[in-house]
Amino acid sequence: MAKKKSARGKGGKKFARKGGKTGASKSARKAERKARAKAGRKNFIVKKNAKKAAKRPAIKAGKKAASKPAAKAPAGPPPGPPEMPPEALIMQTMFGFMMTKGLGVAASLGIADALKGGPLYYTDLASVLGADQRALHRVMRMLAGHGIFAEPKAGTFANNPVSDLLRADHPQSMVGMAKMICGESHWQPWGRLEHTVRTGKSGAFHAFGEEIFTWFQKPENKDEWDVFNDAMTSMSMGQAPLIAESYDFSRFSKIVDVGGGHGLLLKHIMAKAPNATGVLFDMPDVVAGADLPEYIERQGGDFFERVPDGGDCYVMKAIIHDWSDDHCRKILSNIARAMNPDGRVLLFETVMPEEPGPHPSKFADVNMLAMTDGGCERTPTEFRKLFESAGLQLVGITPLPDGWTNIIEARRA
Ligand SMILES: C[S@@+](CC[C@H](N)C(=O)[O-])C[C@H]1O[C@@H](n2cnc3c(N)ncnc32)[C@H](O)[C@@H]1O
Repeated sequence: MAKKKSARGKGGKKFARKGGKTGASKSARKAERKARAKAGRKNFIVKKNAKKAAKRPAIKAGKKAASKPAAKAPAGPPPGPPEMPPEALIMQTMFGFMMTKGLGVAASLGIADALKGGPLYYTDLASVLGADQRALHRVMRMLAGHGIFAEPKAGTFANNPVSDLLRADHPQSMVGMAKMICGESHWQPWGRLEHTVRTGKSGAFHAFGEEIFTWFQKPENKDEWDVFNDAMTSMSMGQAPLIAESYDFSRFSKIVDVGGGHGLLLKHIMAKAPNATGVLFDMPDVVAGADLPEYIERQGGDFFERVPDGGDCYVMKAIIHDWSDDHCRKILSNIARAMNPDGRVLLFETVMPEEPGPHPSKFADVNMLAMTDGGCERTPTEFRKLFESAGLQLVGITPLPDGWTNIIEARRA
């Protein structure tokens, strides 16, 4: 009873502040109160689950879990939907794409870089960027109104801790990801989501007539391919140090990063395995573009055909979720054949919870639905079955404290 009262009271206060004087009828207000109370109860359940998730230990399969558990408990899934009247939630969700696109524009124009020296009035900001003053002002006040950038005085904009992440020189810069999500490679397929849901076929195929990585490889799509590769590095900036810290890589002698992009993760891992050799394996043009120290060998190739031989540790970050089970089986079987008998396969992926409730992997999963032919985020059970079908055995799943990345460890069956 006490819990219900506090959930209602909290939602009521928020509503009164934000939109209390709506002139809604008595019965409409009663319906809203009921909806808020229901939302409050739902959130309570979600938070309880989140607490449980935060306490959840590494999932063990067989006797051993991942060699070294994460230092801290995972942050767990974010809280449930905000407590707000149903129509406000619909409006906020519908308008969400405007914020997404506005954020992408801020990333592409380099607005956070232009504000590095301090706040600027929008006319000055427009001249630094070579943008239209009025249009820039309107987009900036929308973004600042929702916490991305600050607007200390009307029309004057400044960076805040959120927009700092859109600076190219920030150590955890997310500018690459923002450009990719809002660029043509993603915007076009996502615009076809209805087609995807009706047919089960990827939006990328509908938009481009081919699988996304084939499309990226075309010379005319080089700019989008560069954006994609930068985005992968951008995503790795936060994940790579965390992964390198959270597992004992020092016991390996040859570490192979399959589909390793430009090698940021492998560089972090190699710093923790001073006696090992490292191999970065990806498509030939990708490894050619990597800036690597001499102790990391680069090998170009197709992971559906082969992977480098003789490693005792094969790592793959954000690879398995790109592909269907059949495709993954090929990659994993190639690894199972190439690896030392007592070697390990380590996947770094988000894991789809088996139970309902909010979780970032549910967004990533629909992204895979729109962008790939059969790619998806997998549950622990699905990972276990996938490994088994490729001659491997799941050892354990260790969630990392970012609430997103997991170390999914396997060995030969
Ligand atoms: C989602 S990205 C992940 C990159 C990197 N592991 C990371 O997390 O930053 C997928 C990677 O798979 C590579 N890739 C796609 N198809 C491939 C193939 N057939 N053979 C080798 N690499 C491939 C891409 O070039 C890209 O670098």
